Amino acid sequence: MIPVLIDCDPGIDDTLALIYLAALHHLGEIELVGVTTTAGNTTATQAAGNARWVLAQLLIDAPVLPGRPRPRHVELTTTPETHGPTGLGYLEVPEAPETPGGDWAEVWRGAVDKHADLRLIVTGPLSNLAAFQQTHPEHYARLGNITVMGGAVNYRGNTTPTAEWNFWVDPHAAAEVFEDPPAASIRLCSLEVTEQFLIDPARLGALVDSLGATPVAGYLADILRFYFEFHRAQGEGYQAQIHDLLTCMIALGTIPYEDVSTTIAVEADSPLLRGTSVADLRGHWDRPHNARLVTSADVEAAHSELARAAGALAVLWAIR
Ligand code: BDR
Ligand code: CA
Repeated sequence: MIPVLIDCDPGIDDTLALIYLAALHHLGEIELVGVTTTAGNTTATQAAGNARWVLAQLLIDAPVLPGRPRPRHVELTTTPETHGPTGLGYLEVPEAPETPGGDWAEVWRGAVDKHADLRLIVTGPLSNLAAFQQTHPEHYARLGNITVMGGAVNYRGNTTPTAEWNFWVDPHAAAEVFEDPPAASIRLCSLEVTEQFLIDPARLGALVDSLGATPVAGYLADILRFYFEFHRAQGEGYQAQIHDLLTCMIALGTIPYEDVSTTIAVEADSPLLRGTSVADLRGHWDRPHNARLVTSADVEAAHSELARAAGALAVLWAIR
């Protein structure tokens, strides 16, 4: 069973990622050892409330804790226009249970100590990862398998002409992590790959059908409709890019993908280029490689994999 820790900011595509991970947890393919949140799509506290509610719907009782409340050196910007006023589109979760006390970094530290084969998946800004680097350097260095959704690498951005949202929100965190990476290369799922994974109303209908009596299925239309409308307003059509779910599948190797070893750097301080990420694919910088940049992923396999996970949840609810 693969131990998984996810650091996220649900967030609509983060929510689909959590549903997928919950299914794999119930299947016994992974152990979801913890969920921590970053401030990005919404506040870290709201994101934790959302994650806790989603996981409660799915009968997962992993610890869920909010992480750092703001970026390292810039003001926090959230994006209600993309993910809805509280991060879950048109859905406002019923009063989420109180956040249990606890320190998110202790969850990370405990997970590193307990699981040598831990997979860390980051689908929000890198604020927690960069903070962990500073507060727990020895444990940070032992993070052996990290997958990040972020960056528009040598590619147009979705937030500025050159920057992707997660890197733009906390550019200093992203820059620091690639400047001083853990022992293992970071597997980077950037926009040019993740934006290929699209769900439209027909795909959503099929997903809801596959989920059967799983309670969360009843909420997906309200959650996704907001994301469809946002993408249409951006000229992308009435559909949605599901970055974070594709990232989880790549992190777990449940779909085919290709990657390349390279050196990534992130610009933090330039006003125009804030959050811009660059891969030195030709070795101009003569710096050590710090990332495995994912260059393609099989999105049809991703749709099949999502259907497999949804079907597993349906079976679980059918036999309860
Ligand atoms: C990333 O930004 C967020 O809005 C999404 O949840 C995803 O993690 C895509 O740029
Ligand atoms: Ca996210």
